[in-house]
Amino acid sequence: MPVVPVIANAPESRYDIHIRRGLLHDCAHLFAAYKGKKAAVVADSNTAPLYSYALMDQLHRAGIEPSVIILPAGEETKCAAQLERLYDAFLDFRLTRADLVIALGGGVVGDITGYAAATFMRGVHFIQVPTTLLAQVDSSVGGKVAINHPRGKNLLGAFYQPELVLIDTDTLKTLDDRQIGAGLGEVIKYGCICDSALFERIEALGSRESLLPVIDEIIARCCEIKAEYVRQDPHDHGVRMQLNFGHTLAHALENAMGYGTLLHGEAVSIGMAAACRWGEALGYTPPGTAQRVTRVLEAYSLMTGYPAGLSPDMLAGQMALDKKAEGSKVRTVLLTGIGACRAVPLTPQELLISLNGGNP
Ligand code: GLY
Repeated sequence: MPVVPVIANAPESRYDIHIRRGLLHDCAHLFAAYKGKKAAVVADSNTAPLYSYALMDQLHRAGIEPSVIILPAGEETKCAAQLERLYDAFLDFRLTRADLVIALGGGVVGDITGYAAATFMRGVHFIQVPTTLLAQVDSSVGGKVAINHPRGKNLLGAFYQPELVLIDTDTLKTLDDRQIGAGLGEVIKYGCICDSALFERIEALGSRESLLPVIDEIIARCCEIKAEYVRQDPHDHGVRMQLNFGHTLAHALENAMGYGTLLHGEAVSIGMAAACRWGEALGYTPPGTAQRVTRVLEAYSLMTGYPAGLSPDMLAGQMALDKKAEGSKVRTVLLTGIGACRAVPLTPQELLISLNGGNP
């Protein structure tokens, strides 16, 4: 079974990502190290009926009493009211600092549960059990946890690393095509920014049907890449920024269209294709890269063009509000080849020119 180590902050804070089909039915031994006798399992209305029974069974086998807390599925759940519900449930369950909090779900469940675990009694043991492809290759690893504020996404958060990540790739069988596509957008991103061999493999596989049988290996490679970024830059002050390739436009699209209209990974796909075009127009990205990246994204049934009805002016305005803005410039990750990138501060004028396909 692939086990990918993550070392954030210091070697003593190492944790492991275990990746295997059927892991949810055979993970009791991985809980043996915990002295606590209780686990609050936070799921959502999709994941609770599918996976909480298997996880509870494994916890019972490890001598740990579980309690399942079910949140509504969807981005709106990442709010202060649901966070308070979690704290109330932890208190009702008499959870202590020796006990465990486990996130069982996609990025929304992982983010809010991680934030609750980081803050409840100043921090309790936290385990991620991601069940979407996007959460398995990205959000469950690296410790970014958060809730949204009415004025913006992820505005209240922390860096709080999990102590264990359990990826049962059988959970992908219950995802719909859009969710798989959203995860594949992030997978292709890793190839684009730092691993040309991964990109070429995905390019050669050429379709979801060919890739899904080897998804365990692909997930393991993505986790290795993410772990290396986290090791180098656990608090996102430098190189970790590269993981935001495609995100400048993606966040603007998500804002402009309303959260949930596009899945995050779908917006990232459009953002990556656009960033390649901008990179070429501005002279940072070798000619032909946009066409190659776009062809791969489209082979995996991902969108690459701007959705109809959104004006370049409006999108440029949205991008200027990006969290990564520096003064009047927006740091945007551009490819300098397949498997290589750099963050470039772009002015609103350059963003607008880029959105207009290089024409002022
Ligand atoms: N999802 C990007 C990061 O963890 O930095």
